[in-house]
Amino acid sequence: MRAAVWNGPRDVRVENVPDPEIQEPTDAVIRVTSSGLCGSDLHLYEVLTPFMNEGDILGHEPMGIVEEVGPEVTDLAVGDRVTVPFQIACGHCYMCEEGLQTQCETTQVHDQQMGAQLFGYTQLYGAVPGGQAEYLRVPQAQYGPIKVPHGPPDDRFVYLSDVLPTAWQAVEYAGIPEGGSVAVLGLGPIGDMACRVAAHRGAQVFGVDLIPERLERVRRFGVETFRLTKDDGDSIIDEIRDRTEGRGPDSVIDAVGMEAHGSGAVRLVQRMTTLLPESVGAKLLSEAGVDRLSAFYTAIELVRRGGTISLSGVYGGSVDPLPMLTLFDKQIQLRMGQANIRRWVDDVLPLLGEEDPLGVDEFATHRLPLDEAPQAYAMFQKKEDGAAKVLFQP
Ligand SMILES: NC(=O)c1ccc[n+]([C@@H]2O[C@H](COP(=O)([O-])OP(=O)(O)OC[C@H]3O[C@@H](n4cnc5c(N)ncnc54)[C@H](O)[C@@H]3O)[C@@H](O)[C@H]2O)c1
Ligand SMILES: [Zn+2]
Ligand SMILES: [Zn+2]
Repeated sequence: MRAAVWNGPRDVRVENVPDPEIQEPTDAVIRVTSSGLCGSDLHLYEVLTPFMNEGDILGHEPMGIVEEVGPEVTDLAVGDRVTVPFQIACGHCYMCEEGLQTQCETTQVHDQQMGAQLFGYTQLYGAVPGGQAEYLRVPQAQYGPIKVPHGPPDDRFVYLSDVLPTAWQAVEYAGIPEGGSVAVLGLGPIGDMACRVAAHRGAQVFGVDLIPERLERVRRFGVETFRLTKDDGDSIIDEIRDRTEGRGPDSVIDAVGMEAHGSGAVRLVQRMTTLLPESVGAKLLSEAGVDRLSAFYTAIELVRRGGTISLSGVYGGSVDPLPMLTLFDKQIQLRMGQANIRRWVDDVLPLLGEEDPLGVDEFATHRLPLDEAPQAYAMFQKKEDGAAKVLFQP
């Protein structure tokens, strides 16, 4: 079969690889009909490359048609239409029963001390072959795949694999009070959808990004938008404070992660560094790690005292500095993590009817054949050609 394969930093190729087969009685194999390209894939493209191996099949947002099932997969039949969550979870361990499927105790990657396995997502997460491919082996298929009806276009259901439940969890974790406000930093697919979900649920929503087309996309959902510029992270903080009686929003969702651009909240970093011994402070200001946390620092500065920050953006550092003084003094609550997909599916499914209140049918900006994956990765990384969400159609 054909698959998008990682060959090195910024080197994705579409290659012929062996077809996947049933290996365990709880496996299924699906023929992939649509498969998303995610901001998380961009981390593999460039930043997390030390954890990748040449030949890894990418992708974790697939849907398709069941081709084959193992003997213990009793709820699925050949021909069923399914969307596959990006994490692999068993559904019956302690963590799954708590609704923490990304911590599944059956699939945790013990040798890396990490949570549940993910499709197409580095050796940290089990080096499981991903779904930007013609076929996909789905482990734990007795629980994972979400059955969806035949008929409507793939666009209606493909985002159940990641974008929709991730956005839903971002909003849940943000703990926005009734009638309250939330600022969403980063309007890629995740932040964009989080804005739509939060607005649909009645919050006052402020959306922040650097890219005009992405700001434009959320405006029709009643979101007030603020354009960040590379050298001015502070003015949006002041503008949003002005809209919230000087306090800042009740909640902030960081949907940027470690691909952050610019100097957001330089003020805060500077304040932090002045509290440190000179040599450490200087190093901190000059280190790339600080820039990667740019959006998170903005969130800390922006959220009102006693408010909540919900992190959806993926962070990868283990020695990045945190402004504990400010976090503590402002009494900020922090929640984060990979989204527990199956936990939120029942909340999201009722919104995927003909009325389409979240605009999923028009959410993708590009639908491309899998063979164009190399160009699509480059385009999405550089945010060219209005690329906001790419779906591959293998
Ligand atoms: N928690 C989860 O389960 C989960 C699931 C999917 C994706 N993610 C993560 O969510 C993040 C967003 O994913 P995406 O697909 O929307 O990716 P994306 O890269 O398309 O979106 C990021 C957006 O942030 C903007 N941005 C960059 N720096 C900024 C800054 N300082 N302030 C405000 N905006 C800034 C970019 O212009 C871009 O529009 C990524 O880190 C991704 O790994 C997490
Ligand atoms: Zn994703
Ligand atoms: Zn489990």
